[in-house]
Amino acid sequence: MLDVKALTKTFGNNTAVDKVSFKVEKPCMIGIIGRSGAGKSTFLRMVNRLTDASSGELLFEGRNVLELKGRARREWQSDCAMIFQQFNLVPRMDVVSNVLHGTLGKRSTLGTMFNLFTQDEIHKAIDLLERLGIAEHAAKRAEALSGGQQQRVAIARALMQDPKIILADEPIASLDPMNAQTVMEALRRIHEEDGRMVIANLHTLDTARRYCDRIIGMRDGRMVFDGTPAQLTTGVARDIYGADENFSEAATSTEIRDHIHSDEAERLIAKVTV
Ligand SMILES: Nc1ncnc2c1ncn2[C@@H]1O[C@H](COP(=O)(O)OP(=O)(O)OP(=O)(O)O)[C@@H](O)[C@H]1O
Ligand SMILES: [Mg+2]
Repeated sequence: MLDVKALTKTFGNNTAVDKVSFKVEKPCMIGIIGRSGAGKSTFLRMVNRLTDASSGELLFEGRNVLELKGRARREWQSDCAMIFQQFNLVPRMDVVSNVLHGTLGKRSTLGTMFNLFTQDEIHKAIDLLERLGIAEHAAKRAEALSGGQQQRVAIARALMQDPKIILADEPIASLDPMNAQTVMEALRRIHEEDGRMVIANLHTLDTARRYCDRIIGMRDGRMVFDGTPAQLTTGVARDIYGADENFSEAATSTEIRDHIHSDEAERLIAKVTV
């Protein structure tokens, strides 16, 4: 289905993503982990063609995505919807209009200019909000919602495109543990119910383990781990994060910030996430 071959991105002398290769045979939920600067976002941006790769290939259902131009490239971008840490909603616009903007990639210029949406599109937007448990907020401004609710609006907007792949760049990094759980559960359900592939950059090990079928670990641009949650032992995690024997898994847990506030914990968090 997806075949990544020696995908590389360099910025000057810096190799942000270094010959990353892996295959995905059928839709699954993949978590990418690694410390800050490991190349996770750059990788996702290359998949979505937001950033051009320096070399390598990216085949999706046999087509080399990196060679797509113009309209074909835009169609690909609508096939793989992006979700960001900061939601990227229009804060003053109502929720349902934010969701409807997910159709923009597929619309005529005229329709876009006049914000003309069909009845079907409006129904679809409301259905998606219902599915994500936030239909009651449809008429509110996006900025009036909690972070977790806003991220679910962003997911609904992504689903308007009917994407084959959902690329999520640290989708829960700005959320408290409760909201983080709701958002991850929504992504997991979308994967299971719709059969869409999800690739999510995650900064916490426990989240990757709990929700993903497959985990890819990146370090200094290279893929240093590719396996199941069970194969991701503490030793492997230590290697991915490049931490020494002081490395504690708790330091990459979502829960820690709420429950432990010792200096030691803060130090460890800084170590693995900065
Ligand atoms: N537009 C750019 N220009 C120059 N260098 C860049 C650019 N984008 C990323 N880099 C560099 O590429 C490397 C990988 O960055 P990237 O943002 O992909 O890491 P990341 O794993 O997503 O980190 P984080 O966890 O902090 O989001 C870093 O060294 C970064 O400085
Ligand atoms: Mg990043």
